[in-house]
Amino acid sequence: MSTAPATEKAPQTIAVVDFGGQYTHLIARRIRNLGLYSAIAAPESFDPSATPNLAGIILSGGPQSVVDRHSPKLSFDPAAVGVPILGLCYGHQLLAATLGGLVVQESRREYGLARVQCETGSPLFSGMDKEQSVWMSHGDHVESLPPGGRTIASSSGLAIAGFEVPALRCFGLQFHPEVSHTRHGDDMLDRFLTLCASVRDWQPADQRTALVERVRSRAGNSQLFLLASGGVDSLVALALCIEAVGARRVVSLHIDTGFMRRHESADVMAHLRGLGFANLNIVDASQAYFDDLRSVVEPEAKRRIIGRLFVDTLNQQLSRLSLGDDWLLVQGTIYPDTIESGGTDKAAVIKTHHNRVAEIEEMLKAGRVLEPLDLFYKDEVRALGLALGLPEKLVNRHPFPGPGLAIRILCSDGATPEVSVADTKLLEEICGSHGMCGRILPVRSVGVQGDARTYEHPAVLWFPPGTAPDWDRVQACAITAANQISSVNRAVFAIRPQDTVNYTVHVQYLDRAAVEALQEIDSLVRNALEPVPEVWQVPVVSLPLHNDAGNTVYVIRPVTSRDAMTADFYRMPLPDLQALSDTCRSAGAGELLLDVTSKPPGTIEWE
Ligand code: XMP
Repeated sequence: MSTAPATEKAPQTIAVVDFGGQYTHLIARRIRNLGLYSAIAAPESFDPSATPNLAGIILSGGPQSVVDRHSPKLSFDPAAVGVPILGLCYGHQLLAATLGGLVVQESRREYGLARVQCETGSPLFSGMDKEQSVWMSHGDHVESLPPGGRTIASSSGLAIAGFEVPALRCFGLQFHPEVSHTRHGDDMLDRFLTLCASVRDWQPADQRTALVERVRSRAGNSQLFLLASGGVDSLVALALCIEAVGARRVVSLHIDTGFMRRHESADVMAHLRGLGFANLNIVDASQAYFDDLRSVVEPEAKRRIIGRLFVDTLNQQLSRLSLGDDWLLVQGTIYPDTIESGGTDKAAVIKTHHNRVAEIEEMLKAGRVLEPLDLFYKDEVRALGLALGLPEKLVNRHPFPGPGLAIRILCSDGATPEVSVADTKLLEEICGSHGMCGRILPVRSVGVQGDARTYEHPAVLWFPPGTAPDWDRVQACAITAANQISSVNRAVFAIRPQDTVNYTVHVQYLDRAAVEALQEIDSLVRNALEPVPEVWQVPVVSLPLHNDAGNTVYVIRPVTSRDAMTADFYRMPLPDLQALSDTCRSAGAGELLLDVTSKPPGTIEWE
């Protein structure tokens, strides 16, 4: 289990046992938002009696089948543990099976929105409407209940979508209350927490003193060396280090990879100097990045090269910075940063996070890395940043990925990926039933479905001439397309439909020209959308597609989100979208498409 925060008395803790589901961190995140500390535990080593102040247990989802003899099991007896237990998805089935119910295996998996009828007499749903809209994900299902159990939720396709064993305070849900698509999911989790603890005692800003102390004691007499990306996490880590050991012992380095946004590296330095931070260094390493990424197309290969170069650059700089032998590398890694690199050995690799590449893993094993924020989530880091006195404007900046624009330039060797004729027909039928038109684009991007990585096509959707555009229809069509067409994992909306049929694949690699062109469009989009409070983040993506005039097609991805682990597309007012599209086209863009995919099944970034 992850270390508890360094407070005198351990906070009441909800253990989230991780069976490899992609939403494990999201569950833990929601619990903290609801005011209780949560920590993720591995199924094989979780020991309830060794967890200080354990208040409840949540069993996560996971990609395996409970029926499979080798699938992960519970390391404890749920009937004897003495705290409430909530099983979700795989955890729901595992709990039912362990307590004596029957789970039946299915070959097909289903994902998506579902209506369930809930038993409002259950403490999990008390005071809520009987019918609930939920995010369902299931292959296997619970066929019969454990002794003493009763059904508390069912849907048209699933007789037991939820159960409870009241005498044991055990609950199971086949759907995901932690995903924002489950409208009242937070309320369900809140009801569960009420059974676990009579008071809520987790406040991230309260951790400031304990954290400073932790950094000070880990640092000992070492110098602290921090890589400053300019993002919120490294900024807060820097402020923490300085408060812990004083500015003279903290050295920071900003590596300009060539994939920053326009003027960003200079702005980062100016901001930090403005805050009075000393010992700031900057290195322009862009040429090495452009050289090594010259003809790389595959997204994970790009990430690995970027991670390796980062460490190479770092090693080259170390002698120049004369740090001597006694120093620790400080990273602004936050709690979920590892999840999509495979949070545990059971989770599928969606993408390799830049501060979890092999070289950094080696340093971690050798005890040479300090990650003071590794138990915190993004908005907790923001709360800490404010508690440390950092200006709100910097603390609330939009997140920007470590590998920068490199993952927002989709590369291609010019070959056109094959698009299935049957899937194209299916898309046309789905679009027709929503009063829309659509086609599958000949590019691929990373997404996530259930607990697995996808690398599939976007569908482009548009309204036929004379139809009034309407976001509800766009959303319904986008969800159906991604759920029903196996080769589609995202949808984009075209405001000017006449061009969408003519896009052609062109050669695109990570070179200065592609970066500069994207920087230009990115700065126009940020000017328009950063001031909009609902917009959590707005990636701009360069596709290896040209319109018939030979100009590059871009996607904008403004999302609303609480924590980037789930997200919805921002319903941009159409006149604003039209105006922004016109501005970008005057600046050389061939087209501007609006990503209308929720996460899941899309991710926020394209790559
Ligand atoms: P996805 O694309 O997984 O992104 O939905 C979730 C959030 O994480 C950011 N992101 C990264 N941040 N290094 C980072 O520091 C990375 O390698 C990385 N990849 C994605 C992304 O911008 C979004 O806020």
